[in-house]
Amino acid sequence: MTIQTVHVGLPGREYDIRIGRGLLDRAFEEIAPLLRRPRVAILTDENVARLHLSRLEQVLKSSGVDVSALSLPAGEATKSWQGLSRSVEWLLEQKIERSDLVIALGGGVIGDLAGFASAIVRRGVRFVQVPTSLLAQVDSSVGGKTGINTAHGKNLVGAFHQPIKVLADTSLLDSLPSRDFLAGYGEVVKYGLLGDADFFDWLEQSGPALAEGDHDARDHAVRRSCEMKAEIVMRDETEQGDRALLNLGHTFCHALEAATGYSDRLLHGEGVAIGCALAFETSARLGWCAQEVPSRVRAHLRDMGMRTDLADIEGNLPDASELLALMGQDKKVQDGKLRFIMARAIGDAFVTSDVPPEVVLSVLNEALAAR
Ligand code: GLY
Repeated sequence: MTIQTVHVGLPGREYDIRIGRGLLDRAFEEIAPLLRRPRVAILTDENVARLHLSRLEQVLKSSGVDVSALSLPAGEATKSWQGLSRSVEWLLEQKIERSDLVIALGGGVIGDLAGFASAIVRRGVRFVQVPTSLLAQVDSSVGGKTGINTAHGKNLVGAFHQPIKVLADTSLLDSLPSRDFLAGYGEVVKYGLLGDADFFDWLEQSGPALAEGDHDARDHAVRRSCEMKAEIVMRDETEQGDRALLNLGHTFCHALEAATGYSDRLLHGEGVAIGCALAFETSARLGWCAQEVPSRVRAHLRDMGMRTDLADIEGNLPDASELLALMGQDKKVQDGKLRFIMARAIGDAFVTSDVPPEVVLSVLNEALAAR
């Protein structure tokens, strides 16, 4: 079994991301050095619990760890005030102390919620991320962004609270439905597009095999994504600058998610992929990157069988000006100006507030007309 380690070297809050197949079965060995007493509380969701919870519980219990678990309903609606208060009250009922460990077993929803609950229970309990989706393994479990959604929008209430370890067991990806896997792949492509042209070249070659289940390719993609995220988070933990690069495609994505009601019509990673294509289209329109680059981005997404254009979103969409207005609700608005992540080339993204709204409107109008 090959387990790889990516270190997140944040002074005082450093931790390892462990990546490889079979990590769930090694969970005790992995967390034993972190335990101050043999006691953990697991937060998960009902779908993940059916697949993986009893294995994790058994591995820990058979090594003498006292384990309790709460399974919450699966889905984005759980990342709410209600889901938070249920988790926090439950952790308190379990008499979880500051020195105990919370384990977030699940995808992005559980990781964000359990991380936030851990951040506020007793003013901060240590937690371990055990991400079970590709999206969570390459993005949401790393970097310490935790939080919930409110009626005002997604992720608007939260805290930076770094995990003390991440266990990314890539064998868990085998149980993902293909649509969920490909949605997570949207975040993998994002890393190549924002900062590593060689990685994008490699994805063009290896992406189809990776989607079909090539284990080594999957491990490599998760590792490279985590390395890139760790490097960026170490430079800019609280998103004062460079961390915003991780939002490539997200300004478009958040408007599309809002327009589709955060429903199954568009998964987050699908919106990221479409958003990346639109970001490259806008960059080319502004003369910031070569004209042929957006087609290369789309060609790769198409090769992977992913949603690539607005035409791939079923049902009605609002018009371009409404979509632009939805972008205005985004957290990335600063001094009333929209901040976009644009690109000079594949692997060379930058943050700017200088994208004229009329150019965004024309890109969106064309994309909507092609539906
Ligand atoms: N998912 C973007 C970030 O962690 O900053």
